[in-house]
Amino acid sequence: MSSTAVIGLQWGDEAKGKIVDLLTDQHDVVVRYQGGNNAGHTVVCNGSTYKLSLLPVGVLRPQIISVIATGVVINPQALLSEIDQLRSQKISVGRNLLISDRAHLIFPYHIAEEIVLEESRGESAIGTTRRGIGTCYRDKAGRTHAIRVGDLYHSETFAARIKDIVAQKNTMLRALAPNVQPLDAGKITADYLSYADAIKGYVTDTTSFLHKALAAGKRLLFEGAQGSLLDLDHGTFPYVTSSSSSGCGIHSGSGVPERNISRMIGVVKAYTTRVGGGPFPTELDNEIGQHIRDVGHEYGTVTGRPRRCGWFDAVAASYGARISGVDQLAVMLLDVLCQLDEVKICTAYEINGAQTTDFPSQVEDLARARPVYRTLPGWKCDITRMKRLDDFPKQARAYLDALSELIGKPVEIVSIGPDREQTIFRSKV
Ligand code: IMP
Repeated sequence: MSSTAVIGLQWGDEAKGKIVDLLTDQHDVVVRYQGGNNAGHTVVCNGSTYKLSLLPVGVLRPQIISVIATGVVINPQALLSEIDQLRSQKISVGRNLLISDRAHLIFPYHIAEEIVLEESRGESAIGTTRRGIGTCYRDKAGRTHAIRVGDLYHSETFAARIKDIVAQKNTMLRALAPNVQPLDAGKITADYLSYADAIKGYVTDTTSFLHKALAAGKRLLFEGAQGSLLDLDHGTFPYVTSSSSSGCGIHSGSGVPERNISRMIGVVKAYTTRVGGGPFPTELDNEIGQHIRDVGHEYGTVTGRPRRCGWFDAVAASYGARISGVDQLAVMLLDVLCQLDEVKICTAYEINGAQTTDFPSQVEDLARARPVYRTLPGWKCDITRMKRLDDFPKQARAYLDALSELIGKPVEIVSIGPDREQTIFRSKV
């Protein structure tokens, strides 16, 4: 058994896409199992930069089968434009992509509702990507207004359901925001039936496909989106995404039991970032935070928003590692810290005068948490061309050792730049 999962341990944007891309050669199938086009992966491959959102990173390699599994929510218009964008970059997507017929669909009313709800929260807005992700998952759980990919291929019942749903959505939207533009059921039906035609060749029962692939000895690579601290159940609720974005989501989102996975890689940045609202104890609202943002190009792939930046938070990342069940770490963007005189790691929180290494379950407590820092000397040299961990200055090695000690897992991969070559593996993978 040699299937692998790549999971973010922080608030997303840990550069998981690079690790997935590096590991695709050793796998046969890459699986996205949660989230939707709220995710953003930037992958640099053969000198070109690809921005992926809904498509698994595996699509960059035609010999790999890429699966959008049951737990993903799909905006078919966004999917088709992503496929077109890749085609314009000479990456063709064809029989190498499979889409679950059980996956739920995002409709224009999901986006309209999300905008109305976010605006109603004022200062305490979640800061969503406004892609209709949460409202689609809400309808999935509620069932009455949910439509799955497979439903597109029953055109008469599909048209009747859209008519009913859109009438109800328009009533609700009007009640919440009287000036909102009503949605047109006829147009939505026509648009979605044309998307249905365009994606038909990809749609299948992916759960059955994955089980057959496992039985045939194929190696699966699970590609997490967002990060463990944005997990709907275990993250910093309500400032989370609406899916199981920790390792907990693999089983429910793909239909593959976790016992089929032999390696769980937890991906962390060498520091911490967050986009959107919610508490962030190690946030640096100062020139060091701006330095990290500038050097690390910390602007969202999907929305372009500047990311909030801060020191590495070992309390948060250890919690992420525990809920995701990872057995090793990939530390990304270590090079971003190269010019700093000293670097800090949060080892505990002080909440109401007491120290703890437990990650709080209530955001009010997290908002009150004062980080307790361990300060280490910086290494003040360029490490971006180094080939082995032994080449690193001792301060950089000490920093990695501290992360590993605090999380309690070995650092197996270190990334020191965007290119494939700028990746160091402790042992052969
Ligand atoms: P949603 O997923 O669009 O509902 O947004 C909910 C929260 O998750 C917001 O704080 C977003 O900024 C955050 N979020 C969603 N997707 C990502 C991602 O891929 N990286 C980082 N944050 C994300």
